Amino acid sequence: MKILSAPMAGFSNYAYRELIRTLGGADIIETEMVSARSFVELELRSNEYPSRLWGVQDEPNVVVQIWDNSPDTLEEFTKRLVNDFHVGGIDLNFGCPARQIADKSESGSYLLKFPNRIGDIVSRVVAAAEGKIPVTAKIRLGCTIDSINAIDVAQAIESAGANGVIVHGRTASEMYRGNANWEAIASIKPKLRRIKLYGNGDIKTVKDALEKIRNYPVDGIMIGRGALSKPWIFSQISAVLDNREIPPEPTDSELNHIIKLHYELLRKQLLPQSAILQLRKHVCYYVAGKTESRQFRNAISQTNNPIDFFNLINNFLNSELL
Ligand SMILES: Cc1cc2nc3c(=O)[nH]c(=O)nc-3n(C[C@H](O)[C@H](O)[C@H](O)COP(=O)(O)O)c2cc1C
Repeated sequence: MKILSAPMAGFSNYAYRELIRTLGGADIIETEMVSARSFVELELRSNEYPSRLWGVQDEPNVVVQIWDNSPDTLEEFTKRLVNDFHVGGIDLNFGCPARQIADKSESGSYLLKFPNRIGDIVSRVVAAAEGKIPVTAKIRLGCTIDSINAIDVAQAIESAGANGVIVHGRTASEMYRGNANWEAIASIKPKLRRIKLYGNGDIKTVKDALEKIRNYPVDGIMIGRGALSKPWIFSQISAVLDNREIPPEPTDSELNHIIKLHYELLRKQLLPQSAILQLRKHVCYYVAGKTESRQFRNAISQTNNPIDFFNLINNFLNSELL
């Protein structure tokens, strides 16, 4: 059973991935989705890389999620990621419902309408990877509730030679509403012959993870938002799966250490004020549910000065680290 950390635009950057790696338990860690076109164009124009690739070159085994609708562009990007960035895997995005990606760029979940096009893209990317790294595709159940076609799409992905398919159990038009439909995810399993099926959607706690693992025939689970609040959730789940004692929730003082580490990791890429802006988003998730967290979130959202920021954190978490 594999545990995957989900691609999340605006969140799963270098620092977040390294934090997850340090806390342990995730078998596969994905980047934010990276535009293949922006890579190719930026490099042509100015010999630069999209900032979302920051850190990837030095990271062990990281899976880069890529998006576009042009097989040529995706093929070119894949070759570079495999041969120059030495990535651990490639995941193709066929699930993003955001207007900018799906409507304007006819990519992401837009392509779910065309299983054949998805098959063409996957086979070109698989060929470009030359068997050196695994290729997966991440999909939703379909575009709308009336056009659920995840089985067709998953079969096209399998026939095209991918190693696995990750399924978020909602349609694109549902965005994040309602509950992920794990029965629909499970119905894909008997229709696959060779590739792995990873289920995704609404795993917020260790209990949720075990419920999905025990009740649905998946080869792995992917966790997104649940790990924004609890990046240590992977270590807890993997402990249960290995029959080890579950590491407890961090104390306030341990959480303070985690936040400090997160800041240091962000600082490798960003200047102090930008690092604080990014960290702020994560800290809001970390403290959600704690007493008086609303006032605290208001207070930290008004500063991007590291000293003030950490004073507020020390105060709230009742521990001195700076
Ligand atoms: C802020 C945010 C950004 C996301 N960005 C991506 C992305 O870049 N690529 C992708 O395939 N899915 C993206 N997703 C979807 C997640 O990977 C995941 O499929 C979804 O959140 C459901 O899983 P969860 O309930 O565990 O969060 C994003 C989700 C969120 C909340």
